[in-house]
Amino acid sequence: MTPVALLIGPGTQAATELLVVTFSGRADLRTFGEPTFGYPPRVTANRDERGNKAFLNFDLPREVNMDFRDVVLKRRMVRNFSDAPIDPDVLDRILALARHAPSAGFTQGQSFIVVTRQEIKNQIAELCGEQEYVAEGFDAFISKAPVLLIPCTSEAAYRRRYYEPDKIDAEDDGADLGWPVPYWHMDLGCAVMVVLLAAVNEGLAAGFSGVWDVPALRTLLRIPEEVMPAGVIPIGYPAPDKLSSSLKRGRKPENEYVHRERWVESSLPK
Ligand SMILES: Cc1cc2nc3c(=O)[nH]c(=O)nc-3n(C[C@H](O)[C@H](O)[C@H](O)COP(=O)(O)O)c2cc1C
Repeated sequence: MTPVALLIGPGTQAATELLVVTFSGRADLRTFGEPTFGYPPRVTANRDERGNKAFLNFDLPREVNMDFRDVVLKRRMVRNFSDAPIDPDVLDRILALARHAPSAGFTQGQSFIVVTRQEIKNQIAELCGEQEYVAEGFDAFISKAPVLLIPCTSEAAYRRRYYEPDKIDAEDDGADLGWPVPYWHMDLGCAVMVVLLAAVNEGLAAGFSGVWDVPALRTLLRIPEEVMPAGVIPIGYPAPDKLSSSLKRGRKPENEYVHRERWVESSLPK
């Protein structure tokens, strides 16, 4: 059967929607963000397991290099992705920006593992408990994402760095430095945020899932013992997704988030 594509937009929230009917007869409604997207769309076809052209992708030019405020406000943890692959150059640009994240003592203890092979993505998804997400009505957003990034950090790298001559106080030689907060966690958070925002700026979306069985993830990806994987960032072109029930908590009011001059007593984190 010849694949047919019907333009049925504009859809909800002034986005453009395309109904894609594939060889298998599967109909797929896809929503593409902003009404400012141009035409004509770049049409590509994925192949199924038997090598038949199975899915049409309409890669409308997405808005890129946005205003910073728009990038921040547009970012959200997305839990479904289209079949569209990510251009390796785009991924490289995102990771290049992450390398510019700050790090204590310029230790740069952060690193990322990039996973694109489907069989490895499936195993990672299993470690994330993807089946439980799916049972709760979410999409298979980990195995389905074209790319998984594993953000990692190394406490040992900070310990080594802070014993270098420009950091260590000679009299404290050998003493535990006792960081006020684990800088290796703080630095990884900074780098992850760059990835999440850079993805949005490239017209992509990203999510996050914790991995509780860290030893299994270590074994799967051959992560050295001193390197700590912090979870999984699925990344790809966003598809309509189920929202987290956590969002019902609502965003904190500004006066509980920002304390001016001193802590406002009545506002302990809930
Ligand atoms: C450290 C961290 C861990 C998270 N773990 C998960 C997770 O395991 N699964 C998930 O679906 N979302 C996870 N999230 C996403 C949060 O649920 C999400 O950031 C929060 O609900 C706010 O929504 P937003 O980021 O879309 O604005 C995590 C976020 C962070 C920062």
